[in-house]
Amino acid sequence: MSKKSKIIVTGGLGFIGSHTVVELFSEGYEVIIVDDLSNSSIDILKGITNIVKSDIIFEKIDLKNKISVKELFNKHKDISGIIHFAASKAIGESVIEPLKYYENNLGSLINILQEIENLNTNISFIFSSSCTVYGQALNLPIKEIESIKKAESPYGNTKQIGEEIIEDFCKSYNKIKSISLRYFNPIGAHPSIEIGELPIGKPENLIPFITQTAIGKREKLIVFGNDYPTQDGTCIRDYIHVIDLAKAHIKALERVLNPEQKSNYDVFNIGTGKGYSVMEVIKTFEKVSSHKLNYTIGPRRKGDIIEAYADTKKANKILDWHAKLSLEDAILSAWKWEKKLQEL
Ligand code: WQD
Repeated sequence: MSKKSKIIVTGGLGFIGSHTVVELFSEGYEVIIVDDLSNSSIDILKGITNIVKSDIIFEKIDLKNKISVKELFNKHKDISGIIHFAASKAIGESVIEPLKYYENNLGSLINILQEIENLNTNISFIFSSSCTVYGQALNLPIKEIESIKKAESPYGNTKQIGEEIIEDFCKSYNKIKSISLRYFNPIGAHPSIEIGELPIGKPENLIPFITQTAIGKREKLIVFGNDYPTQDGTCIRDYIHVIDLAKAHIKALERVLNPEQKSNYDVFNIGTGKGYSVMEVIKTFEKVSSHKLNYTIGPRRKGDIIEAYADTKKANKILDWHAKLSLEDAILSAWKWEKKLQEL
């Protein structure tokens, strides 16, 4: 297969970034991975190489550094697109260190957009956004036209502001076509178990906390509240397999690389369209792993919304993308990955 367009993937050693790099390779794209290794491991590069069976260009770069970003773009002037994952993403940490989040998430974004403008060539740009922008939506399932509420955390605010910066830039600079993908809850691991979610330190998210508890790295899972107005009292989320999410990036890239494509900015919700409660996730884990999970019910976590799941009709229709993998597939892959990590 002749090499397709050359794509820079920032945050390419991260959870979603690494899985997207693998999908890009399988579609014949040339990939440049950019990562500062602040919240990822160089081991993931080896995992990607083991899957794609090819060397891959990796640039260790701090995107907050304007000079470094300029040098990156000078070195790779022939790129056709950028998929921008690189960002700090721990909600709790963002409340404690807001300036770190604004500087990193927005400073890096602006540095990249400024270099895109200097390139002065047609360029495609996919932005990693989040359903966090909706807060607690009034209408479920959540459509892209749902109102954007005041963010509940600096992290969520950087996603809202990031989308606005890109939309304004697309209005002022006509050589860019961009799509923001609003992820719901990404979970799971690559079937090869060469790559997966690699939380550094104590996991914030539910699935890695479940698998670390089951493998014995954590004593027990605390369910953050079971007194919500849901069928079993626990919060509901739309958990999407990271492979389906990675494939959504390929579909979005194809759309913005298409010269026939007229719209130069759009947003899409990327989820399964189905919500599951925390208790349903726990029961599903116990079923696929044949492991009894040690958990207790604790107090609510500040900032948690009650219920969120996507209306995916827009992505289904316009991107011709559908989530294909089930909650069981995703949780089983996450469990296999945790067991692999234990052996290392
Ligand atoms: C899911 C559910 C918790 C841990 C966040 C970001 C979102 C995206 C995914 C980046 C909630 C419950 C969790 C635990 C629990 N990240 N839970 N005990 O908060 O829905 O989404 O991560 O883009 O933007 O907002 O994900 O996995 O933290 O929580 O009971 O130890 O699991 O209360 O109901 P969340 P999560």
